[in-house]
Amino acid sequence: MTGNEIRKQFLAFFESKGHKVLPSASLIPDDPQLLFTVAGMVPFKPIFWGKVEPVYTRVATCQKCLRTNDIENVGRTPRHHTFFEMLGNFSFGDYFKKEAILWAWEFVTKVLKLPEEKLWVTIYKDDDEAFMIWRDLVGVPEKKIIRMGKDTNFWGPAGPTGPCGPCSEIHYDTGAADERGEEESTPATDDKRFLEIWNLVFTEFYQDEEGKLHPLPKKNIDTGAGLERVTAVVQGVSSNFETDLFAPIMSRIEEISGVKYKQDPQKDISMRVIADHSRAVSFLIADGVFPSNEERGYVLRRILRRAVRHGVLLGLEKTFLYLVNDAVIEAMKDVYPELAERRQLILEVTKAEEERFFKTIVQGSELLKEIIAKSKDVISGEDLFRLYDTYGFPPDIVIDVAKEKGLKVDLEGFEKLMQAQRERAREARGEVAYAKKTVFEDLAKTIQTKFLGYEKFECQAKVVAMDPPVASEEQKAEVVFDQTVFYAEKGGQVSDTGVIVWQDGQAEVEYVYVPVEGVVSHVVTVKKGTLKPDLVCTLKIDVERRLDTMRNHTATHLLHAALRKVLGTHVRQFGSLVAPDRLRFDFTHYQALKEEELQQVENLVNEAIMNAIPVIVEEKPFKEAVAEGAIALFGEKYGEFVRVVKVPNFSEELCGGTHVSNTGNIGLFKIVSESAISAGVRRIEAVTGRKALEYLRSKEFVVKELTKILGCSEQEILQRVSQILEKQQELSKQLEQLKEKLLSMQVKALVGEKILNIELFHTVFQNVEPNTLRNLSDVAIGGKSNSIVALFSTDGEKVNCVIRVSSDLTSRVKAGELAKIVAATLGGGGGGRPDMAQAGGKDLSKIAEAVKALKEYLTKMQG
Ligand code: ALA
Repeated sequence: MTGNEIRKQFLAFFESKGHKVLPSASLIPDDPQLLFTVAGMVPFKPIFWGKVEPVYTRVATCQKCLRTNDIENVGRTPRHHTFFEMLGNFSFGDYFKKEAILWAWEFVTKVLKLPEEKLWVTIYKDDDEAFMIWRDLVGVPEKKIIRMGKDTNFWGPAGPTGPCGPCSEIHYDTGAADERGEEESTPATDDKRFLEIWNLVFTEFYQDEEGKLHPLPKKNIDTGAGLERVTAVVQGVSSNFETDLFAPIMSRIEEISGVKYKQDPQKDISMRVIADHSRAVSFLIADGVFPSNEERGYVLRRILRRAVRHGVLLGLEKTFLYLVNDAVIEAMKDVYPELAERRQLILEVTKAEEERFFKTIVQGSELLKEIIAKSKDVISGEDLFRLYDTYGFPPDIVIDVAKEKGLKVDLEGFEKLMQAQRERAREARGEVAYAKKTVFEDLAKTIQTKFLGYEKFECQAKVVAMDPPVASEEQKAEVVFDQTVFYAEKGGQVSDTGVIVWQDGQAEVEYVYVPVEGVVSHVVTVKKGTLKPDLVCTLKIDVERRLDTMRNHTATHLLHAALRKVLGTHVRQFGSLVAPDRLRFDFTHYQALKEEELQQVENLVNEAIMNAIPVIVEEKPFKEAVAEGAIALFGEKYGEFVRVVKVPNFSEELCGGTHVSNTGNIGLFKIVSESAISAGVRRIEAVTGRKALEYLRSKEFVVKELTKILGCSEQEILQRVSQILEKQQELSKQLEQLKEKLLSMQVKALVGEKILNIELFHTVFQNVEPNTLRNLSDVAIGGKSNSIVALFSTDGEKVNCVIRVSSDLTSRVKAGELAKIVAATLGGGGGGRPDMAQAGGKDLSKIAEAVKALKEYLTKMQG
């Protein structure tokens, strides 16, 4: 049975048991607890959790999954993967243990036709119910039902909290032989001989932050069988990489590298790494992840670079991974159409990142070699940092290499240096922490600054801490109040500025930030009086600046939604800047936007503005918000309660920023530019409100000035300009002709210099085109005999020269020879026919010398 058939049969089997077959969800879960979809149950977490009502109570899927916790083992074992497919059947408060077990057994023995005697099962130690079902209803002999502990037979939660439960696994006995294990072993003692092929989880608990278990409202089933390992068992091969699922990928790697699989164990590791990682890279990019230095993008970058490094170990010297990805796309596109849809994107992004890393490898590998040579047992944190900081070597590649060489790596030392660098970067960006972070950390235990700035622009507040402890005129300080109306920079929105006023005193607020969760620090300069703790002040933000910023923030949400509508839901926010004067939005998309797409986006946003839609802001439990379809941005931390900013029927995002209360307040939205910032990431800059008006006025100004200068109406500008350009072309042509005429006269008047019997005519022009120079040489040589012409022209940077030899002389003197002599003197090249040749060079000071050389040659040849 092929891997594809197993996938199909599995889904058909559960369909016949009343399950709804659903397509795989994205590798990027709508779940802030997780970076990636790590199991088939992830898309259904809110249902298990009891937060969302299911549409179907029985579901079956083949889910694409990604796990990177064991990445160092990938390639070194027959079964470790980053990307894999998980077959699963789910019950949401519908059937429970009995059906789950009976059906799993039926599928394994009747459909996959695995021999019963090869199958063993494990159960959670106290799960007598499962024990009885296996023994009495299925008929598994008691000695083949193994009770095991929480570490193996309790699954979940996926993330720090959430649904989980005891589980029961089906194991396949690969037979005791050689390295495979002991004759008398069981799945509890021997994971070489026994291979877990299916995990049945009885999801009935919810685990809280402290690790306590609480019963869920309903009992559920969550099962997971790795397609790759099930296929390996069914096909009787000893490694997942030998199944037909991997065959086309492995043979593509063989083709590209010229290395055969199973010839050299070390190379086999590299081939398996590339095979696994090419799938991960292809699927991640298809789901909208791009290489970067943060979060998911960084995981992708690490995986991709690890694959490239193993390519280098195979002897590859240039980009290759995108070609392996091409095989992945071909092999898997029928099941995962997103691969075909995003083919170009996958290949381009991979290739661009590979190119970058190949450069890194070339530059860094010498240093790495030196470091390895000098490191005794451990590669130091400094060396690791140097490799990372100077050459972009991801630490885990160094770890990988170190492992091969039997070295350890000082990751702690590396982390410290990274931390110090981050601090330096903050300071360089001007986010100066006058006060040390630790001061704020202590403060945060007793103080949480209340933010009133959503409703008000002005408030009274008390100074609760500051650094330095007192500040007088022209002194800078960082001040923490018990409450504030100042928005601290976060989520892309810049901080408010404004003033603080107290009796006899005033300070300007330049920058506001959150040094530690819950504490808002105001960076101020005192202008009058003395600022000290316990003072009660009036805090006033710059209202106009804030209103402009609010316009831009709401417009950013509208832009995000419009881009997804026009370009597709692969568009994801990559970064943003919301300032008073403009907004900048970076997003994932693989090509430049066409003019009409930009217009559509601009139109959609402006329609939402013209419809004057009230903006609704609600606080609600996180899960509820996400279930309603709010876009959660990864990388943001969300508490249990989140703020949802909604423009009904248009956009819904989790956001802590400040927004206008009605889209109509934005006034006008105008895109100013669209550009690329890296492979697969585009940037749009736009303006709103007053700035949009200003922007249009500046364009209008240019148009008005043009009408004045050109003396025509606005409508006539285009026509007038093209007329002028045409005219100009014509004039320069005429000018060139006139110049030629003028120069012809000069040429005709040239007096020759007698070199014995030959007459040499030479002169130097300024700025004559090569074409014209040739024409002039025609005039110069015209009708002459016994003559040689050498015309030079220089434009201040280079020299051109045309040489002519009268036809009666060409049997004795070749123009090409002369051109070579000139070129050698001028430091350039030259050559041509016997009667006409050209030379060029960069050394302007040597023209006279070139002429001299010609004369010498002519003298000699006649001598
Ligand atoms: N969620 C279970 C697993 O991943 C089935 O093993």
